Amino acid sequence: MIYKKRENQKVQADQNSLVIKSMKEDLVKIRVSDIYLDESIYPRENIDHKRINVFVENLRDNFKFDPIEVQAYPDPKVSGKKGKYRILDGAHRWSAYKKAGLIEIDAIIKTLNKMDPLLYAAKMAIGPRQLTESETRNTARRAFQTNTKLTSSEIGKAIGRSRQAVDSYIADLRATTLLELDLKIFHLNLLGIPQDRIAKRLGIPRRTLRDHLAEMPGLAFPPNSDLSKGFTIPQVAQKHGWPEPMAWSQALTGKDDLSRFKELNWELKTWDVWKFIDCDKRFGDVWPGRIPAQLIAHILYFFSKQNDLVFDPMAGGGVCADTCLAMGRRCWSLDMDDRLDTRPEIEPYYWNLEGKWKDLPIITSKGKPDLIICDPPEFDKNAQGNAKKSISGLSKKEYLNFLEKFCLFLKKISKKKTRLAFISKDWRDYQNCPADKEDPSQAILIDSYCKILQKAGWKLTHIIQAPLSSEKFNAEMVAQMQKKRILGSTGRYVILLK
Ligand SMILES: C[S@@+](CC[C@H](N)C(=O)[O-])C[C@H]1O[C@@H](n2cnc3c(N)ncnc32)[C@H](O)[C@@H]1O
Repeated sequence: MIYKKRENQKVQADQNSLVIKSMKEDLVKIRVSDIYLDESIYPRENIDHKRINVFVENLRDNFKFDPIEVQAYPDPKVSGKKGKYRILDGAHRWSAYKKAGLIEIDAIIKTLNKMDPLLYAAKMAIGPRQLTESETRNTARRAFQTNTKLTSSEIGKAIGRSRQAVDSYIADLRATTLLELDLKIFHLNLLGIPQDRIAKRLGIPRRTLRDHLAEMPGLAFPPNSDLSKGFTIPQVAQKHGWPEPMAWSQALTGKDDLSRFKELNWELKTWDVWKFIDCDKRFGDVWPGRIPAQLIAHILYFFSKQNDLVFDPMAGGGVCADTCLAMGRRCWSLDMDDRLDTRPEIEPYYWNLEGKWKDLPIITSKGKPDLIICDPPEFDKNAQGNAKKSISGLSKKEYLNFLEKFCLFLKKISKKKTRLAFISKDWRDYQNCPADKEDPSQAILIDSYCKILQKAGWKLTHIIQAPLSSEKFNAEMVAQMQKKRILGSTGRYVILLK
């Protein structure tokens, strides 16, 4: 095994590789086969094979090369490269070692902290042989695309060009990013999210936000003009790069709720059974436990009015916010899953299990919701992966305790007139169990939710049935269930409270 140590640091053996790790950087020997050339952080367009051949000759003459520089693969679980390294500097030396059939190579393992690896690699590449003009330009563009917060002078310093030169390399990308930022601001503003939270969410100063907001009427003008020329909503959304629900919000401005239902092609159900065959794909992302936009629209129609503020504390795929845009309601959404690029309107928030929620963003904001639409994940005794971190992964007792605290908390942040729509289903452990053998102590039935909600001070006004489709049970499963007298469950309810 190895190893010259560069600094006298704490060491820890790693059985998967030939390396000893230290706190900063080590000079070590690494297997050539454990190192990769990662094109996403390689600043040159081509490898120079002549140069490699010269290096191979040098190696045969026992010439000693400087160590190459590598970085441990980030996100090894995603890349599948646990215990492997990618090259920051020395692609030609490494290729020569490989070609010469050598097993190990001297390397320095770098920890870059916040420095962009592509820019670091570019900086290192400039020394021995300048990058070509096209390599420099591409590196600047790739670095900016990976991190749009990089300034031109930061990029310029790494690639050895002036700020003005970098400005010219990335002018078009910067314009698109600005449009994206404008769109995000427009989106969040339409949903009624207060300015301090928009600025925080998008990582921009309040003054910048105010400047952008002043431009908003102009931003809506081109799509509105296309709508008035008779282009369809999907066409307008696609042409201007808008999310479709935003295009709907513009197209339906000034219309009453009934006309909105009509234009959206949703049949309004007049009775207290709301059954929908499919989720409307125009609203919300594909998401575990996704609810149809039509269901949200019915809650909005019967229990809120236009411009009301809706609060969705566990927003998942964002169907509630999307439907609120189409129905002309404001909406604040939270979820533990953070997707700034695709769902900036869903602010990241983790409902910790101790019930300490004093840092909740909406508490410090003015305004209380008119309607809360709460769609918690159901209890899952076999929760895996991400679901383990969610309340699904709690024990049944902890899950019910959490809901008790949560419903009480929702009451606290409500005003007198606030409505709560709590979406839920019976949870029964019916798989492989005949109906008359089911253990009631294992179940969480709808009456348990009602009791918890009432205990928290909410008054029950309606229980609406909104059954799921039974399509998830295929013919073979149904035959087995019938044979074993298993009673499946497709029930789902919207419990309405004040
Ligand atoms: C049933 S899903 C909501 C689905 C959503 N209504 C839709 O149609 O897309 C419940 C959501 O609660 C979130 N969640 C679960 N536990 C949470 C916690 N402790 N804090 C914040 N969010 C949580 C999950 O990430 C999940 O997106």
